[in-house]
Amino acid sequence: MYEVALRRPSELLVGDSPLIHRVGEQLHKAALTEVPVLITGESGTGKEVAARLLHELSARRAHSFQKINCPAIPNQLFESELFGHEPGTFTGAKQAQVGKCEQADKGTLFLDEIGELDIALQAKLLHALQDFRITRLGAINERTIDIRLICATNRDLEVEVAKGGFRTDLFHRINVLRIQMPPLREHLSDVPVLMNHFIKVYSVQFGRRPEPLNSSFLKLLQSYDWPGNVRELENLAKRHVVLGGDEYIVPTLRRPAGIPSFESDAIDIATPLRIQTKRAVHHIEKKIILDVLRSHNWNRAKTARTLGISYRALLHKIKEVGLPAVRSPKSSIPKQSFRDPGEVLGE
Ligand SMILES: Nc1ncnc2c1ncn2[C@@H]1O[C@H](COP(=O)(O)OP(=O)(O)OP(=O)(O)O)[C@@H](O)[C@H]1O
Ligand SMILES: [Mg+2]
Repeated sequence: MYEVALRRPSELLVGDSPLIHRVGEQLHKAALTEVPVLITGESGTGKEVAARLLHELSARRAHSFQKINCPAIPNQLFESELFGHEPGTFTGAKQAQVGKCEQADKGTLFLDEIGELDIALQAKLLHALQDFRITRLGAINERTIDIRLICATNRDLEVEVAKGGFRTDLFHRINVLRIQMPPLREHLSDVPVLMNHFIKVYSVQFGRRPEPLNSSFLKLLQSYDWPGNVRELENLAKRHVVLGGDEYIVPTLRRPAGIPSFESDAIDIATPLRIQTKRAVHHIEKKIILDVLRSHNWNRAKTARTLGISYRALLHKIKEVGLPAVRSPKSSIPKQSFRDPGEVLGE
């Protein structure tokens, strides 16, 4: 198992498949450098786990890891959250506030869901990242900050850049090393090890002793496509520990085809409705497109006709929802996603 001793068990990157080993190796290599890392992948694949692990593996581990969930912060508060403010800068600002950039000094700043960041704020962020000098709102003096930047997104930022929703210069600034978290359906061999890991963690947490999982049940779990990825599996393990018995879990796996699971989108009270709705639509579209592609043996022209959209629109959608352009062999490792700094910067 690929484990690194960390402060909390939930921060372990668990898995024994070649894909997870590869992510582990990429994190180790990235941790030896100071360059920005962009972590991409579907919801629930462990992007935040990877970001925290990268910090823990790096020489900055003794300092702070600060996370900003970009869409959760209202636009007008974003700068103050990031850069801090002096007292009296705006109504309600009675005391000085140290921003996340300063809190992360000598440590790591993790910008989560950066693809959702408002375009006007992207410019301000870029400005700060150019030379790592920031000014608290209402202050005169600049401060130099020493941070390692990690960003994460479940969007295809190349598509966002092409559509004009994400600044090209900011994209190149953050996309130096890229680490792609694989969807769980591409490393199903990790399902037993992940299940056992979460059952162990939650048995201790909830003070329970659930029945061990039987092999036919584990087999069933390995034939499921896990649209909610590891988060869905973790929720399932929790349910098993609390309720015991496979009979409570099996029905949630055997939902009728075409009805997507929303286990992955456990309600997050910090995320605006607009974004949660967008994610849900994204999930449904992905599931429908995938089902129709499969039923037409990945013939995209036929799929477009069945879906009643143009061929071009289908190609765009396939990219947007993060499906491969063509059917990939089941066992294949996705295309190289960890690049040398020069390689990406030169693009
Ligand atoms: N390889 C893994 N090993 C152990 N736990 C994992 C792994 N991958 C994900 N998890 C767990 O699954 C849950 C979801 O992971 P995480 O929050 O990192 O996903 P994410 O990719 O950031 O999802 P989102 O895009 O929805 O924010 C967490 O509770 C995390 O601890
Ligand atoms: Mg996340």
